[in-house]
Amino acid sequence: MASIQIKNLVKRYDKAETIRKVDLQIDNGEFVVFVGPSGCGKSTLLRMIAGLESISGGELYIDDQLMNAVAPAERGVAMVFQSYALYPHLNVAQNMGFGLKMNGVDKQEIAQRVLRAAKTLQMEALLDRKPKDMSGGQRQRVAIGRAIVRNPKVFLFDEPLSNLDAELRVEMRLQIAKLHHELGNTMIYVTHDQVEAMTLADKIVVLRAGQIEQVGDPLTLYHAPANLFVAGFIGSPKMNFLPARFVAQAGGRATVALEDAQRLALPARDIGLASGAAVTLGIRPEHISLEPVEGYIRIPFQSEVVERLGNATYLFGNSLGTAGVKIHLPGDKYVKLYEELPLYINPADCHLFDPDGQAFAIRQVPVNH
Ligand SMILES: Nc1ncnc2c1ncn2[C@@H]1O[C@H](COP(=O)(O)OP(=O)(O)OP(=O)(O)O)[C@@H](O)[C@H]1O
Ligand SMILES: [Mg+2]
Repeated sequence: MASIQIKNLVKRYDKAETIRKVDLQIDNGEFVVFVGPSGCGKSTLLRMIAGLESISGGELYIDDQLMNAVAPAERGVAMVFQSYALYPHLNVAQNMGFGLKMNGVDKQEIAQRVLRAAKTLQMEALLDRKPKDMSGGQRQRVAIGRAIVRNPKVFLFDEPLSNLDAELRVEMRLQIAKLHHELGNTMIYVTHDQVEAMTLADKIVVLRAGQIEQVGDPLTLYHAPANLFVAGFIGSPKMNFLPARFVAQAGGRATVALEDAQRLALPARDIGLASGAAVTLGIRPEHISLEPVEGYIRIPFQSEVVERLGNATYLFGNSLGTAGVKIHLPGDKYVKLYEELPLYINPADCHLFDPDGQAFAIRQVPVNH
């Protein structure tokens, strides 16, 4: 097992900075997930840790040892890619053991390690199979097995489930969670999929344009996103953003006015905003009710599309001049389209973002998570 420390890390291709002064601490045994939009630098950062990309600036430590100039094979890391790249003419056992054989590990030792990995991955019955006779999920498990047999200190995964269909992804996600539980190794996992990030991670790192936007455990990011970017990235469907004006700050609370001049007050930090400053009110789709509740504020809504999934109902429409407002109702609800419906929102569920997109409402994160 291993801890990783990243200090001021920079990656430059020609003149463009792809990774821009990243600082990150990863503890021993932690499952860390890198998320962010395409091109933000997730793979580059992972490959720099693996040693597959050179480091243009800053420092990378694994277990307090400077790794900048250490060869990939000497770093104690093993990487699993999106494409499994198995040898088609080798069976499962030979594929898993190939790297060890190349490194001159003795036959018996290879057989033992392959068997142990196969047990962990529940693949003992498939050891004689060739890749062409297996499902995508099974092939990806072989690729994971190939990493396990190397006994790495750190596992690095770059979107390992992207090639699998939705059902298999869910199954493999559970397998990877179990694997982390059993092995206890430090793992870094890159994904676009925020459900994978929320369910697998001890710690999520949200990246944007080569910089870290926020680091935190999944529910802290959900309940207390630090800025508009993280608020919009974590959570599905996305958080709704309504334009508002700052009115005043008093007694630890900020009062803001919505487009219809309706006011609401929230616990917030005093950041010295001028009265009238343009702020953004955030409210998640699952925190909007169609039923009146005491203490909630009422806002108008015009429904345009409804999606009934049986276990949930999604409504889309306009509110206070904002298009594409989304509402997530539990269960199957009948809703008439193109009608004015009042919505009810609890001020305590609202987020506030200043003109620069930084959160300033004080948000409670439940302690029992
Ligand atoms: N070898 C290279 N030369 C020049 N630019 C590169 C090179 N490799 C990556 N980049 C650029 O660095 C940026 C980050 O790429 P990276 O592959 O790390 O993104 P990513 O977050 O993994 O994206 P995706 O989710 O699409 O996999 C991109 O703008 C990419 O074009
Ligand atoms: Mg990538």
